[in-house]
Amino acid sequence: MKKNTLYFSDSQEDLTMASALLKQGGTVIFPTETVYGLGADALNPKAVEQIFLAKGRPSDNPLIVHIANREQLSGLVAEIPEKALILMDAFWPGPLTLIFKKSSSVPKTVTGGLDTVAIRMPKQPIAHKLLDIAQIPIAAPSANLSGKPSPTEFIHVKDDMDGRVDAIIDGGNCQVGVESTVLDISGETPVLYRPGGITKEEIEAHIGTIQVVTKAKEGETPKSPGLKYKHYAPDAEIQILKGSCDQVKNYAETMAKQYKTAILTFDEFPSFSGSVMMYSLGSKDKPEDAANRLFSALRFLDGENIEYILAPEIPDSGVWSAVRNRLYRAAGETIIDLNKMSILFVCTGNTCRSPMAEGLMKMMTQNENCTVSSAGLYADGAPASKEAILTMQGFGIDISQHTSRQLTPEMIEEATLILTMTNAHRDMLLSITPQYKNKIRTLADWADASEDVADPFGGDIQLYQQTADQILELLKKGWRKHQ
Ligand code: TXA
Ligand code: MG
Repeated sequence: MKKNTLYFSDSQEDLTMASALLKQGGTVIFPTETVYGLGADALNPKAVEQIFLAKGRPSDNPLIVHIANREQLSGLVAEIPEKALILMDAFWPGPLTLIFKKSSSVPKTVTGGLDTVAIRMPKQPIAHKLLDIAQIPIAAPSANLSGKPSPTEFIHVKDDMDGRVDAIIDGGNCQVGVESTVLDISGETPVLYRPGGITKEEIEAHIGTIQVVTKAKEGETPKSPGLKYKHYAPDAEIQILKGSCDQVKNYAETMAKQYKTAILTFDEFPSFSGSVMMYSLGSKDKPEDAANRLFSALRFLDGENIEYILAPEIPDSGVWSAVRNRLYRAAGETIIDLNKMSILFVCTGNTCRSPMAEGLMKMMTQNENCTVSSAGLYADGAPASKEAILTMQGFGIDISQHTSRQLTPEMIEEATLILTMTNAHRDMLLSITPQYKNKIRTLADWADASEDVADPFGGDIQLYQQTADQILELLKKGWRKHQ
């Protein structure tokens, strides 16, 4: 049911009304120093349910409880470890969330059924004042629709949440721009689940070595449920590129010929004209600026209907770790190494055309940093056809050890370029993995030609020879064009 969302300023009167709404079990969005939060009374399970409903958030993903002062902490946790006290002295109020063993007063709806609870004391004056007036602990996840980038500006929350919550407080832009650092302090060794504004290095300076677990291991239930959900994702596909400025530029320009493409850069990166949109995250020396701008950038580029967002590699230390974590997760953790080319040829059975293309391409690229392989849409481990083996012998290429491979989504993900023999093969691949449309092409199209490479299967050796000649011609043309 659509709610009639009230809009509040940061005046004393408005904050008093917002706090009254919270105490009655309502939902109120408020600014914090990290991102906007979607708050409700943490001790009222019915109110907390409204948060999950408004965000469309899975109910096993626990929430952070926000407090105004340390007195509130003792009612929420079973114990306060020594290391927690040290960190609270150093970083509270501020963007550090600590996970404690929970007390029985915290409902399981808040903790997603876990026996621990995440707590933070925000520094932002409006958040602090609201919590101070309300005098109740407030559960608040980031105020975005589940899966979207977190909101760092008033307009973001209005766009996502108007009609879904009882009130929104306009607090302008958030300063840090990425969510708080999440540190589990409930066990023997503290574990960092989410890097943020307070860095690993800063934490370790106070309490010694900590563990870092920011990715869920495959097949394992993550300790922090947030790790298993795709997060921070804009509508566009994000790709992280590893390579020189020139390589990135070439890649971006080629991409922009077919798709609406943007590139996240730094002020120091040379700008290039053309159809690639450039969006600077600030100076390469200011990770705080990049953190502050990142989510705004992703939302802005979605607004421009960008299809591909290209981003540079980000270091893994200090505040950069937070930027890297959000960006890489949004990119699904795939990094494209522009120094390494990996070409995959695809035909139907992987016994004639694609093994010949693989052999010819390997011969052509033996001195290049390039791996070449082939696979079939319907392959069953058969050897290459006799005629294909003989034809390749004529080129001095031995494919007698080849066995046909069934194409898998993993092969498509790993390859940097997938060349199919016909339009039909390409269309089939696009229907299986549409997200990789930028790297799936027909061999002819890649070489600026138009004719499919027809199947010589069942034909005589002359037909195989003609097919091999056609493939070689296309490979030479394409390779020349793309060097
Ligand atoms: O900066 C922030 O932390 C913002 C503002 C609003 O305070 N809040 C925020 O909340 O980012 P949310 O719900 O979007 O992210 C909370 C993260 C999730 O990844 C969740 O899995 C983890 O903290 N978390 C919460 N309670 C936990 C617990 N008991 N054990 C492990 N992880 C927990
Ligand atoms: Mg969130």
